Amino acid sequence: MEIRDAVALTTGGASGLGLTAARWIVAASGRVVLLDLPGSDGAAACEELGSGARFSPGDVTSEEDVRAALDPAA
Ligand SMILES: NC(=O)c1ccc[n+]([C@@H]2O[C@H](COP(=O)([O-])OP(=O)(O)OC[C@H]3O[C@@H](n4cnc5c(N)ncnc54)[C@H](O)[C@@H]3O)[C@@H](O)[C@H]2O)c1
Repeated sequence: MEIRDAVALTTGGASGLGLTAARWIVAASGRVVLLDLPGSDGAAACEELGSGARFSPGDVTSEEDVRAALDPAA
């Protein structure tokens, strides 16, 4: 799969499997939007990941929150 310059939306991206996936994507020169709960460590995760990552606080079960996360992804 070609990751370079791709933008991925990673749900639950502030920790665990989601954060690990985000690290791999950024390491492969892709970019990520981390969608995770507002109280999560999403902002800190983005700091670690650098300029290729953005945090979009929200609940993946909310259509409005997912739409809001897709904006920066676009
Ligand atoms: N099938 C398997 O072999 C396997 C193995 C490991 C984990 N899992 C599953 O994968 C999932 C993730 O596991 P993990 O270890 O990364 O867990 P984790 O708790 O480390 O990470 C989950 C992340 O999802 C976020 N989150 C929870 N509810 C959310 C919501 N409604 N909207 C947005 N974000 C939300 C949390 O804030 C957290 O950052 C779990 O459901 C786990 O059971 C499956």
